[in-house]
Amino acid sequence: MCGIVGYIGERECSFLLLDGLKRLEYRGYDSAGMAVISNGKIDFHRSQGKLYNLEGLLRSKPIKGKVGIGHTRWATHGAPSEKNAHPHVVGSVAIVHNGIIENYLLLKRELIKRGACFLSETDTEVIAQLVYFYHQEGLNLEEAVRKAISRLKGSFAFLALSSKEPERLIAIRKESPLIIGLGKGEYFVASDAPALLPYTKRVIFMKDGQMAILSRGGLELKDFSGTPVPFQAVDLPWSPLMAEKAGYKHFMQKEIFEQPRAISDTVRPHIDLDKVEIFFEEFQITPNELREIEKIWFIACGTSWHAGLVGKYMFEKLCRIPVEVDLASEFRYRDPIINKNMLLIPISQSGETADTLGGLRKGKASGAKSLGICNVLGSTLSRECDCVIYTHAGPEIGVASTKAFTTQIALLYLLALYLASILNKIDLERKRAYLLDLLKLSGQINTILEHAQDIERLASKYKWARNFLYLGRGIYYPIALEGALKLKEISYIHAEAYAAGEMKHGPIALIDEDMPVMILAPKGETYTKVLGNMEEVISRRGKIIAVTEKDCREVKEKAKDTIFIPSTNPFLKTILLTIPLQLFAYYTAVFRGTDVDQPRNLAKSVTVE
Ligand code: AGP
Repeated sequence: MCGIVGYIGERECSFLLLDGLKRLEYRGYDSAGMAVISNGKIDFHRSQGKLYNLEGLLRSKPIKGKVGIGHTRWATHGAPSEKNAHPHVVGSVAIVHNGIIENYLLLKRELIKRGACFLSETDTEVIAQLVYFYHQEGLNLEEAVRKAISRLKGSFAFLALSSKEPERLIAIRKESPLIIGLGKGEYFVASDAPALLPYTKRVIFMKDGQMAILSRGGLELKDFSGTPVPFQAVDLPWSPLMAEKAGYKHFMQKEIFEQPRAISDTVRPHIDLDKVEIFFEEFQITPNELREIEKIWFIACGTSWHAGLVGKYMFEKLCRIPVEVDLASEFRYRDPIINKNMLLIPISQSGETADTLGGLRKGKASGAKSLGICNVLGSTLSRECDCVIYTHAGPEIGVASTKAFTTQIALLYLLALYLASILNKIDLERKRAYLLDLLKLSGQINTILEHAQDIERLASKYKWARNFLYLGRGIYYPIALEGALKLKEISYIHAEAYAAGEMKHGPIALIDEDMPVMILAPKGETYTKVLGNMEEVISRRGKIIAVTEKDCREVKEKAKDTIFIPSTNPFLKTILLTIPLQLFAYYTAVFRGTDVDQPRNLAKSVTVE
């Protein structure tokens, strides 16, 4: 996510803003900038890369002023560069923004028709151009901002300055966090508490749909219609380090709980439900080109490989296109039969995994087209693929991948529906139903997260197990693999996953009272088979933890412990089943006292072979 800071008061603010940005560095970023009202005009610096680049500019060309805004950018639209960095300054207006403007392309076309000259590729510049347009029409800054936000769709938190109103700083919050710090005759604004803590602990957490109008003399809080709203200031109980995790104990925990927002940010920009349309600006393919594709080939590592395995079930079921999935480290040293009629889809959260990049280069050398699925704009993978579709999970700090995985699956689901509709493999009603299921998913994940303590209690019961078996069938087998990987990589318990039908071919020899078995047992075409697998385990005194749906009474009767998930279609059940497994691994690791965010021997991105 991007980082936002703002200040209005009696102090010179450029280095104060820089200090605030430094305290938001943990959020991940690729460029930074700030704008200050200086002698009645907007003075600003922007730089690609780390904050020391911005600091260098401030030292060589200082900016003087006591009202300013600053930003660290985590690129979502437009590669990392100086021109795409914030603030975006249009005439007398400067904007810094965190979030995604879903309808920015439409608005951009409209503003260009009205003579606007865009300098960047970002969605944020649309906000600056809109506010400036209305400001030029004679509205004051508050009114111009209010009119602009009535046109915006998506999630956004932004700050606005105008050189015409140098004593004013406006803050807007819709679905992206923004906090106001209360000082003596001064106000601070930030995306997150760490930037405020050195200056004040007295804060107001802005709510969705609120606008704050800050001046040295005071603060007004209004809703988007302009009606004043009451507010309650609170004292932050956090230390700066705790605050980086927004009160969560670990980044991994925070990222597990960010998944509803991450999935929504990833899928919503591609969906027009009214028209039952899915669109990918980044990847356009004609029906004829698509029909020429003989095979889709996923290559990835670790958790991303598990996403590819799920993708195989989705694409083969919905698009009826043959799919292969390979570990990139194997693919790159095999001699795969690959040609120009194949679509290579490397999946990578970081976009820097050496084996995945090696596989991509091998596939491209054989003439295959390439479509990357990636979470980091400007990463090597995103630059080397013919085209790339991004997950918008935001920076994933914890080494164990969580929100990146579920956003990868959500994106693959949407892509499979997109290709299936191009191939006329899916009718409008089914497509609408699948899209509605997807738009309900974030709420269903929240339902599971609300019961996290139940899973914490379960983890406490099994925390000293020395081995664990994870079983799943069909499209849920990759989720068993992912659950086992989560447990082993952060709690150091030896955990293995098997296709449940494989048990009788050897693994069942492992079952005894000391071998807990996590079984994924939702309703579905192999449900009765899974019941049989449960019997195989029980008859050998195995203890079963089952993850299933409310009305699966047989499962509950057979299992020692049961975790319930809401119901949805089989494809999206993969995501709902994943959440409890992430939580189970997380709490187990916490009980065992391991380093949850930085597990031993592991790196967040394996950039070497
Ligand atoms: C998963 O929790 C691990 N962090 C690891 O398996 C990871 O998924 C793998 O290294 C691939 O990383 P990437 O998605 O950045 O390519």
